[in-house]
Amino acid sequence: MKIIAINGSPRGEASNTQTILKAFLKGAAAKGAETEIVLLSKKTIHPCKGCFACWIKTPGVCIQKDDMAELTEKLRACDLLIFASPLYVDCITAQLKTFMDRMLPNVLPNFIKVDGVWRHPRRHGPPPKVGVVCNSGFPQMEHFQVVHHLFERVVKNMHAEIVMEIYRPGGEILRAKNLLLKPLILKYKKLLEKAGKEVVEQGRLSDKLREQLEADIINPDTYIKNANAYWNKQLSKLNEKKS
Ligand SMILES: Cc1cc2nc3c(=O)[nH]c(=O)nc-3n(C[C@H](O)[C@H](O)[C@H](O)COP(=O)(O)O)c2cc1C
Repeated sequence: MKIIAINGSPRGEASNTQTILKAFLKGAAAKGAETEIVLLSKKTIHPCKGCFACWIKTPGVCIQKDDMAELTEKLRACDLLIFASPLYVDCITAQLKTFMDRMLPNVLPNFIKVDGVWRHPRRHGPPPKVGVVCNSGFPQMEHFQVVHHLFERVVKNMHAEIVMEIYRPGGEILRAKNLLLKPLILKYKKLLEKAGKEVVEQGRLSDKLREQLEADIINPDTYIKNANAYWNKQLSKLNEKKS
């Protein structure tokens, strides 16, 4: 199984998204998967121009010469494509959205109806399975409502199927240096590894493991208290500098 994960965090290597992906893919690799993470923060991908040249003038190829050309080729050869992003304004980052807009050359212009819904036919072969990974600043699952619905729609357009969704509320906990939190973070990473193994072996993430992955790492009230203390400290440091 070839797995490609697209990390849409501007923090790149230092992102919470990357921490989640690395642990998940470690598990997947242990079960024989070939894995790769694409850091969009290191790529130059211009926004789609909406010219539809990729449908008519240069079928299947975008007229913009940037890193998307190489990535488009890569996507054709994967079995599982993971879209990964921090939650930004209740949705995915602009970087990941731009990447997804630029996937337009992968479909043909014609309209076809599948299960009562209009979509475009795929240009090349069968679709990969799809995974979604998202972490948020706020520590509640309800913040992922839009992302969940977004990908439910996106996979219809891709003629694909979602086989795993990993949502991490209060994701900033993953960068905590506090020694007391280390074992809790390690336990979460082990669950991610287990998820990676499960997806390779069973083809999808079980509801049981998904629920375990969504459980609080620490009490949300404590998380909020610490977050407010952190931001207040940063602000008072700034005020001290000014005075
Ligand atoms: C511009 C911006 C918008 C954000 N919007 C939200 C939001 O709507 N809801 C939320 O819970 N967190 C929001 N966050 C917080 C991030 O989701 C959070 O810091 C996350 O852990 C970052 O993950 P990363 O390290 O993978 O980039 C936002 C952060 C930024 C910078």
